[in-house]
Amino acid sequence: MSERVLSGVQPTGRLHIGNYYGAIRQWAAGQESGAENFFCIVDLHALTVPTAPEALRESVLYTAAAYLACGIDPQKSVVFRQSPVAEHAELQWILGCMTPLGWLNRMTQFKEKTQRDKQLNCLGLYSYPVLMAADILLYHATRVPVGEDQKQHIELARDIALAVNGRVGQELFTIPEPAVAREAARVMSLRDGREKMSKSAPSDYSRINLTDSDDEIFFKIARAKTDSIPGLTYDPENRPEVANLIRIYAAASGVTPSQVEAEYEGAGASAFKHALTDRLVADVAPIRDGIRRLYDDGRAHLLAVLREGEGKAREVAGRTLREVKEAVGLWAE
Ligand code: ADP
Ligand code: TRP
Repeated sequence: MSERVLSGVQPTGRLHIGNYYGAIRQWAAGQESGAENFFCIVDLHALTVPTAPEALRESVLYTAAAYLACGIDPQKSVVFRQSPVAEHAELQWILGCMTPLGWLNRMTQFKEKTQRDKQLNCLGLYSYPVLMAADILLYHATRVPVGEDQKQHIELARDIALAVNGRVGQELFTIPEPAVAREAARVMSLRDGREKMSKSAPSDYSRINLTDSDDEIFFKIARAKTDSIPGLTYDPENRPEVANLIRIYAAASGVTPSQVEAEYEGAGASAFKHALTDRLVADVAPIRDGIRRLYDDGRAHLLAVLREGEGKAREVAGRTLREVKEAVGLWAE
């Protein structure tokens, strides 16, 4: 069977270079490989944390603009919104009835998220990985390019697929493989090398957003935390912040951390930071301009892309859900 790639991002705020180098850049590059590609804006997932309705709608359009500006080509990939394809929520229920609670209790992201503000803990946060499994399995995805933090969820999707296949005695679902970027699997915060760069971190200085101006990139890298050890050495254990900057440089330049180390070992921290800023500006500036253009002037185009994608997604998802219903004893008309 040919390769099917599926991935998604929650429309919950502005995207950053962790999302780009860790996930979306891989999606764009893979479009040339001859695989079928499905890139979803997972708006149902975004409801797991309280969001103002207008902000959510805007985030969906912004995320669509970001996908296209990062090089996702709607001629080569199906770009769609999750919520109008009702099969996602339906399959989630069926899979939820076959997922042992013990498997969900192991999910580290659930444990982290439920520690934050206990008043906001809801069933959706707990069942989120089952919805993600439905997103993947509906499309018979063979490959799911994501950052390191999502790997455990894909392993759960594999376990669920294997369990359901075993139970119904047929190869109902394809078993997906996670695909994680090498240097950028886990881009860390610019303020704390032990924290992941994240949309939801309170300090904007912790991340480089895909819409940051050249000056903002310059100032954020200039203020990025380092340490007092002289010289540039790649030592993730003892120098997490410096190691993170080296990995970001490596991801942006397509080289390895040891090549970066060799090139900048003798240079001062500020020379390295200038070079890193230049690399980031070269990648971010065209994306930023593309997002702005599409988001400000191309709304009708974005909506048309999403609508077209939705139609294509529904065809595939509808077929899979009918097979699943038959297999579990619900008739599918
Ligand atoms: P965030 O954690 O910032 O809210 P999402 O959870 O929406 O981002 O992640 C969208 C995609 O980007 C996922 O594939 C995720 O693994 C990837 N990703 C998010 N943050 C990072 C990061 N710091 N480094 C690498 N990949 C990341
Ligand atoms: N849970 C993912 C995240 O927070 C987003 C997501 C939802 C996803 N469904 C997916 C990613 C399916 C890959 C495939 O980043």
